[in-house]
Amino acid sequence: MRIYLDNAATTPIETPVIEAMTKVMSENYGNPSSIHSEGRKSRSLIEEARKTVANCINASIGEVFFTSGGTESNNMAIKCSVRDLGVKRIITSPIEHHCVLHAIESLDADAVAVDFLEVDFKGRINLDQLEEFLVASDEKTLVSLMHANNEIGTIMDIDQVGELCQKYGALFHTDTVQTMGYYPIDVSKGKINFLTGSSHKFHGPKGCGFIYINSNNSLKPFIDGGAQERNMRGGTENIYGIVGLAKALQLSCENMQQRAEHIIELKNYFIKKLTSSFSDIKFSGDYDGLSHFKILSVSFPTSPKSELLLLNLDILGISASGGSACSSGAEKSSHVITAIKSDPDRKNIRFSFSHHNKKEEIDYVIEKLESIIPEKVAVTQ
Ligand SMILES: Cc1ncc(COP(=O)(O)O)c(C=O)c1O
Repeated sequence: MRIYLDNAATTPIETPVIEAMTKVMSENYGNPSSIHSEGRKSRSLIEEARKTVANCINASIGEVFFTSGGTESNNMAIKCSVRDLGVKRIITSPIEHHCVLHAIESLDADAVAVDFLEVDFKGRINLDQLEEFLVASDEKTLVSLMHANNEIGTIMDIDQVGELCQKYGALFHTDTVQTMGYYPIDVSKGKINFLTGSSHKFHGPKGCGFIYINSNNSLKPFIDGGAQERNMRGGTENIYGIVGLAKALQLSCENMQQRAEHIIELKNYFIKKLTSSFSDIKFSGDYDGLSHFKILSVSFPTSPKSELLLLNLDILGISASGGSACSSGAEKSSHVITAIKSDPDRKNIRFSFSHHNKKEEIDYVIEKLESIIPEKVAVTQ
């Protein structure tokens, strides 16, 4: 038996999504750019998918562009707004995903100034500080802030940030990779310029994502080539991925409330069980405030056994994560945990849930944690 509690890293693909994709794989091999019948059929599948995504976020069809995932979409928003829209200054936070932080780092430091907002011990930004930063400069500014943090779950109020950006004429990019399909998102309110989504985080296939670009912003292609994606991204489209992404997002939006209720119940049950089983347990992020319901970052006191906690859990059939899933597969200290000044002497484990998890799985995890963590930490009744 395996218990998968790493749904912030990636999610299993839903069966109807696999069915929709395999149907396209076996039946629709036409190149969407070809003008013959096979090509036109593939093109219409992509345009249907675009319509589905646009409907889910209340965008116009012309504002949705398919990409290879969250990383590409975030790179595109940041690099194209600097290259094409005259952005000279970026305001961001130290707890953004590496694809945002490294994209910003790659920019010419002489051409673009970067200001980092402070985050508090729960990973929250301070809106007053954002306003101070926005007031302080006349330069064309891009604010890049994620909706929910992938390691600790802390949620930022995108409506409030969007309003401030609008008030001071700044562009607003938000990484909604963790919240897309989990929270209602409505871009028609007009405060967001760029927003990004990644299919594999909402039970779709990997290697496919999208970017919403508000129609007031005119960008040049991010990948030069053919005229695909309305000339914004050259290259023959990943039609299976796009169809799968749209199906997965549609299912996530249709079932949003019941999935959320189920996951919230599981998470609360897990918190209750953890606090009653262990005396010295802490939770990172804004877990009792504005936090993504699917993410729980648990901080255990250090002991020789907790050092190897992830490995021991894995051996016992439980998959969790030390922070974000990192590309090397090695456990490294996390920039998020460092930024919120979490006690370096404690061990953070991220558990992240999906609607497929069950209460019995939580009971099993608690039982195994009790067997791994030293007795002195367990509550003695
Ligand atoms: C918040 C956030 N942004 C961006 C990404 C990157 O998305 P992708 O894996 O589709 O490149 C991730 C994935 O871990 C993420 O959690």
